[in-house]
Amino acid sequence: MYIVLLGAPGAGKGTQAGALTQELKLAHIASGDLFRQALGKGTELGLQAKAYMEKGQLVPNEITIKMVLERITSPDCAAGIILDGFPRNVEQAKALDEALKLQKKGIDYAVYIKVSEGELLKRLTGRWICRKCQAPFHEVSSPPKTKGKCDKCGGELYQRADDNTETIKKRLEVFFAETAPLIEYYSRTNKLMEVQGEGSMEDISARIISALRAKNQKK
Ligand code: AP5
Ligand code: MG
Repeated sequence: MYIVLLGAPGAGKGTQAGALTQELKLAHIASGDLFRQALGKGTELGLQAKAYMEKGQLVPNEITIKMVLERITSPDCAAGIILDGFPRNVEQAKALDEALKLQKKGIDYAVYIKVSEGELLKRLTGRWICRKCQAPFHEVSSPPKTKGKCDKCGGELYQRADDNTETIKKRLEVFFAETAPLIEYYSRTNKLMEVQGEGSMEDISARIISALRAKNQKK
């Protein structure tokens, strides 16, 4: 199964991808995580992405598309993927469709996790993520068992440089201008599923799984 998770910054794409990959046994590919890992290692890719990420702008398509299309050919992706944060505009979506078509595959579903702007702000300003495994935590809604330490791998938790009010505002603008048109893009081919993204993390996972099952049965 090939699933795209769509949603504004803070909608819970990373959180839900973590839960869904376990349930559905799929690989999780997050373009933002790939950039942050590259940045952490100080690679050329990381340095290229840094300035755009800090400003809340999209990294240019030629860099992003190449990085993700290379990643999806890895053996761990053969059984299917959950894509989180990619595609982010129509050009990326078309490039992804073409690459999967060459492998005689295609996107099955695009899940749009819908969350109000006020809630997005609360989530992003209170978020802490693991430097090692990228797992997201929240100081109020999902605090780690030990302050500053990841429950999953023991890695150090930190706040992302782009999780400040000014950059969050820019990221939201970019989402509505460039990524929101993908809702229409996937709706045209009947792949879109809209899920209400507010409530407990477990309830949202259950909503996504039951919507996926219902849509899969109709296929
Ligand atoms: P990226 O890393 O993709 O960031 P984003 O899209 O802005 O999304 P976030 O990771 O901020 O939010 P999320 O939806 O994953 O939420 P999370 O689960 O963490 O991109 C960063 C940058 O990289 C971009 O700005 C761009 O520069 C570049 N980039 C990446 N991909 C690109 C692409 N394809 N093209 C070009 N450039 C690209 O949850 C948020 C918080 O809320 C957490 O604290 C979590 O614990 C909490 N939370 C989650 N669910 C709930 C709930 N139900 N109730 C309460 N709290 C919750
Ligand atoms: Mg994320």
